[in-house]
Amino acid sequence: MEDLSLHILDIVENSINAGARNVVIIVREDRAKDQMEIEITDDGKGMSAEVIGKATNPFYTTRTTRRIGLGLGLFDEAARMANGRMDIRSSPESGTTIAATFQLTNIDLKPLGDMAATLVTLIAGNPEVNFAYRHERDGETLLVDTKDLRARLQGVSMNSPDILAFIRTYIAELSDTLSKPARR
Ligand SMILES: Nc1ncnc2c1ncn2[C@@H]1O[C@H](COP(=O)(O)OP(=O)(O)O)[C@@H](O)[C@H]1O
Ligand SMILES: [Mg+2]
Repeated sequence: MEDLSLHILDIVENSINAGARNVVIIVREDRAKDQMEIEITDDGKGMSAEVIGKATNPFYTTRTTRRIGLGLGLFDEAARMANGRMDIRSSPESGTTIAATFQLTNIDLKPLGDMAATLVTLIAGNPEVNFAYRHERDGETLLVDTKDLRARLQGVSMNSPDILAFIRTYIAELSDTLSKPARR
């Protein structure tokens, strides 16, 4: 997987499979600290300590469709490659947070990629789930919250083509107004 946005899509699919109704995605770039943090928090069914212990093992999955689980293991590897780490904070009561750090100037840091496409894919496939996306770069913030959007849409379906096109443009334009990415 080349882009972190595709890892994020995969990690959020876990949240959906866990029955989450609210998912918060945070990307935080801090050039002074030479660090990027990616955090995905859900209110799904959470993991027991036993599942957490096995979750980054590529041969562990509770899914029954494909007998291999790779999402968390590959995200963990992407973080390590960029001199960072991935942590799982989860319990059956509180849901799950997957938190990863990356060194911004690391040569092996994967590009963030197309977060607008990731968001649009998630929203189109899961119109009943609330997604909040927050991207901070050196103190500037881009925020998209489907709960707010839905309130303003007044009954228009969240996954109608017009609305999805609007969301895609909105995220892409706002991303441009954040100051230049730390690299490239
Ligand atoms: N957000 C989550 N909530 C609850 N359980 C999770 C979550 N993310 C991962 N898991 C558990 O960890 C396992 C491994 O996840 P992953 O590495 O993405 O592989 P896969 O999704 O293919 O099973 C899942 O099968 C599931 O049991
Ligand atoms: Mg998965």
